[in-house]
Amino acid sequence: MIEDLTGVIGRDNEIKDAIHHLHRHRNVCFVGAPGGGKTAVLKALFENWHALHPKSSSLYVWSCKPTKWLFSEVAFKLYRRDVLPAEFNTLPVEAFQKRLNRMHYRDISRLISAATTAHPEIIFFLDNLDSATPASQSLIYTLLEQGVTICAATTSKRGLTRLLWQFQLIDLQPLKDAHIRRFVDSWIENRHILVDDRKLFLEHVTYKSAGNPLACEQLLRYFEHEPRIKTPDIRKLYHEAGRKELDLTPIIFIFFGVSLALRFISRSISHKELYILTSLFTASFVVIRFFAFRGMLKERS
Ligand SMILES: Nc1ncnc2c1ncn2[C@@H]1O[C@H](COP(=O)(O)OP(=O)(O)OP(=O)(O)O)[C@@H](O)[C@H]1O
Ligand SMILES: [Mg+2]
Repeated sequence: MIEDLTGVIGRDNEIKDAIHHLHRHRNVCFVGAPGGGKTAVLKALFENWHALHPKSSSLYVWSCKPTKWLFSEVAFKLYRRDVLPAEFNTLPVEAFQKRLNRMHYRDISRLISAATTAHPEIIFFLDNLDSATPASQSLIYTLLEQGVTICAATTSKRGLTRLLWQFQLIDLQPLKDAHIRRFVDSWIENRHILVDDRKLFLEHVTYKSAGNPLACEQLLRYFEHEPRIKTPDIRKLYHEAGRKELDLTPIIFIFFGVSLALRFISRSISHKELYILTSLFTASFVVIRFFAFRGMLKERS
């Protein structure tokens, strides 16, 4: 399984899909929610690309901005791979960096173009494609036009629609609950942490993280320095990215108000059945309210 190779859980199909497209020189872009695991998948693919294709050349860039940084980073990585024109590749590192610093980004772009034209087999792994400035996008377009294969990751498509038309998009859906549960299970094992109610903990973290690996990591981080995870702490778990619980309190109060009003109306019009029904509803509300209040007090203490 690819998972055993990469350590990335539950993304075998997406990685296989990406490999399939890259073999055919199609550009691939992983898209998904913030914290959904785009970087993890992109890095896993990059790290294993070389193992799978020892003769190929690939480079990973973790951001597409600032513009000058992106251009210099790409040029530097090409220099490291010895694929720049001889005039540059024969320079010692410091001299090359100094020269790069003095160059305008358009000249660096031309330098990159020269290298990629001579070596179109190089695959670029670009993370955070959504951070690309218009100038960075122009470099990416140039590379795409030259037939360079690019694998990227992006969160938001705003302002990128046209650029993304060039890619096969692979949507990273939330991880399955079973995958998150396995992740949490191995976290407990590795930390030798004592959990009062392991089943409840697994269920809560899985439910609250809603398949988002970053949300899951952050929930676990909450207990990082705890020697023991107590049940009341588990119940308090919450994450903004997680599943939302519907708060029924206002609806219950509205029903209570309506039933109270109907109770008075039924008395004034002498409607016996309605009076009994609304009295029952009001009484059950008072009982439920009493127990809910006691439960809240207990939880606080
Ligand atoms: N499939 C996975 N298996 C195990 N860990 C994962 C998986 N996906 C993501 N993670 C972990 O979850 C965390 C967040 O993932 P990552 O940074 O890849 O998300 P992202 O989509 O790139 O986030 P952003 O939108 O901020 O760029 C990382 O620490 C990563 O190692
Ligand atoms: Mg990322």
